[in-house]
Amino acid sequence: MTSNIIKFVHKNEIVELSNPDPNETLLNFIRTKLKKTGTKEGCAEGGCGACTVVLGELKNNNINYKAINACIAFVTSLEGKQLILVEDLVSKNELHPVQKAMVNYHGSQCGFCTPGFVMALFAMYKNYSSYNEAIIKDSIQGNLCRCTGYRPIIDAAKSLNKESGLDHFSRNKKITLGLLKKIKQRNIAIINGNKKYFAPKSVNELKSILRQEPNSKLISGGTDVSLIVTKERKNLNSLIYMNSINELNYIKENNSYIEVGATTPLINFESFVKKYFPDFSQILKRYGSVQIRNICTIAGNIATASPIGDTLPLLLALDSQIVIKDKSKTQILPLNGFFIGYRKTKLKKGQFIHSIRIPLLKKNIFKAYKISKRIDDDISSVCASFNIEINNNNKIKKIRIAYGGMTSIPKRAFNCEKILLNSFLSDKTIDKAKKLLEKDFKPITDVRASKKYRMEVAKNLLEKCFLEVKQKKLIRINA
Ligand SMILES: Cc1cc2nc3c(=O)[nH]c(=O)nc-3n(C[C@H](O)[C@H](O)[C@H](O)COP(=O)(O)OP(=O)(O)OC[C@H]3O[C@@H](n4cnc5c(N)ncnc54)[C@H](O)[C@@H]3O)c2cc1C
Ligand code: FES
Ligand code: FES
Repeated sequence: MTSNIIKFVHKNEIVELSNPDPNETLLNFIRTKLKKTGTKEGCAEGGCGACTVVLGELKNNNINYKAINACIAFVTSLEGKQLILVEDLVSKNELHPVQKAMVNYHGSQCGFCTPGFVMALFAMYKNYSSYNEAIIKDSIQGNLCRCTGYRPIIDAAKSLNKESGLDHFSRNKKITLGLLKKIKQRNIAIINGNKKYFAPKSVNELKSILRQEPNSKLISGGTDVSLIVTKERKNLNSLIYMNSINELNYIKENNSYIEVGATTPLINFESFVKKYFPDFSQILKRYGSVQIRNICTIAGNIATASPIGDTLPLLLALDSQIVIKDKSKTQILPLNGFFIGYRKTKLKKGQFIHSIRIPLLKKNIFKAYKISKRIDDDISSVCASFNIEINNNNKIKKIRIAYGGMTSIPKRAFNCEKILLNSFLSDKTIDKAKKLLEKDFKPITDVRASKKYRMEVAKNLLEKCFLEVKQKKLIRINA
C-alpha cells in the first residue's frame, strides 16, 4: 500500500501529516508547526546538539530510543516512529529524573544548550541500566555548552545511577507499542508542488521507483544530503529515502567476510566490528556524535566519496567490496578504484549501494588512526589505515595502506606499499617508505591543516604504526 500521509506517535497519540513538504526539516516542523520551542537551533548542521530530540522505533516488540539532530532530519523521516521532545519529559507537573538531576547539579546557566543535553541524557537513561563516565561522555559528545562547562552536566548524569531507570515512558510502554504497531511503515509517495519524495519499504519497490525516477537523490541517514537544504539553501526536488527498507538493515558474517546492509546505522556496526577490528570501532567512536551515528550509514559515507570520509581509508585498507544493484543487475566492485574524482564515484544513475563486504583477515594486523583538532565530533585532518600480514620469518607478506585527507579522494599508498612488501621492516625501509608517501600524495592546505602538516602527520603515523607492530610482534630491528 502506498500513502502520502506521514504517521507518527507523539504524546500517546497518532499524528498524521498529509503530503508534507519533503524538504522541511524536523526542527522547523517542531518549532513552527507543533509550536514547541524548547528544541533549539544553534548550528543547523548537526554540530552543536541544541536541536536533539529522541525517536522511539519499534524493534522486536520493544522500543529503541535514538537521540538525533532535528536540524538535519526531514520531517518525513518521522514515518512510523515515536517523537519525544524536551517538553514531553515532564509528567503531571513533575520533572523527569534527567531534568531534576540537571537542576540539582547546576547543569545549566544560560540554558540554550540545556534541552539538547537533557534529550541526549534522556536517550542514555533509556538505553543503559547504569551510567559510567565513558557512557556519559559518549552520550553527550554531540552537545556543546559554551557557559556551564561539562563537569556539572557529567555529575548530573552520574547521579542518575541512583534512579530506578523508570519513568512515564516505561509506564506507558504498552500503549506506545500498540500505537507504533498500528502505524507500521507503509510505502510513502509524496508529490508536493515540484517536490517529490518516496520511501519504499522493500528493495523491489526501490528498484521500481528508481526505474521511474532515475534522477532522484538517494538519501539514507541524510546527515550529508540534508545540508544541501539547510546550508546551501537549495531545494531537493526528488528524494528516495532508503532507511525504511528493513531488509537492508543487517550485519551478516561468514568465514570470509562481514556484510553490512546499506541502511544499517553506523552505531550498530561500531559495536559489532569491535571483536574483529578494534581500531575500526575506535575510529567510529569518534565519528560525528551519537546523534549522527544513530542514523548515518557506511553506504552514505562511501557514496559521498569525501576525501575525509572516515570509514573510507579503513575499508580500502581492508580490501572491501561494494555490492551495487540497479533495476535488473547486481555488480560487486572493489572499493579500490571506486572513487574517481573529488566527491565522484563509479555509481551510475539508477544504481544504489546494496551492501558492503569486508574481508575477515584473522591473521592480519589492522591499525587505524584519526587526527583531528578535537577528539569528538570533528572532521579528520588525516586518517590513516594499515592492514599488514607478517609471515613467520618476520617478513611482510601482504600490505595495504590507505589515507584520507591527503588528496582529493581517499586512496591507497601504492608506492609506499611496494617498498614495504617482502621487507623485514628495518628502520631504513621504513624511512624510505615514509619518503615515498610524497610520491603517493600531494595534499592541499585548507582550514583544517596545511599541506606540510598533513604530510608530516602521514609520515609519523606510518612510523607509529610500525613501531607498534614491532612491539607486538617482537620483530628484531635491523638498522
Ligand atoms: C555533524 C556531522 C558530523 C560528521 N562527522 C563525520 C565524521 O566524523 N566522519 C565522516 O566520515 N563523516 C562525518 N560526517 C558526514 C556524514 O555523516 C557521513 O558521510 C555519513 O556517513 C553519511 O551517511 P548518511 O547515511 O547520512 O548519508 P546521506 O546523507 O543519506 O547520503 C550521502 C550521499 O550518499 C548517497 N547515498 C546514500 N545512501 C546510498 C545508497 N545506499 N546507495 C547509493 N548512494 C547512497 C546520497 O545520495 C548522498 O549523495 C558528519 C556529518 C555531520 C552533519
Ligand atoms: S542546531 Fe546544532 S546540531 Fe542541530
Ligand atoms: S548553559 Fe549556556 S550554552 Fe550551555
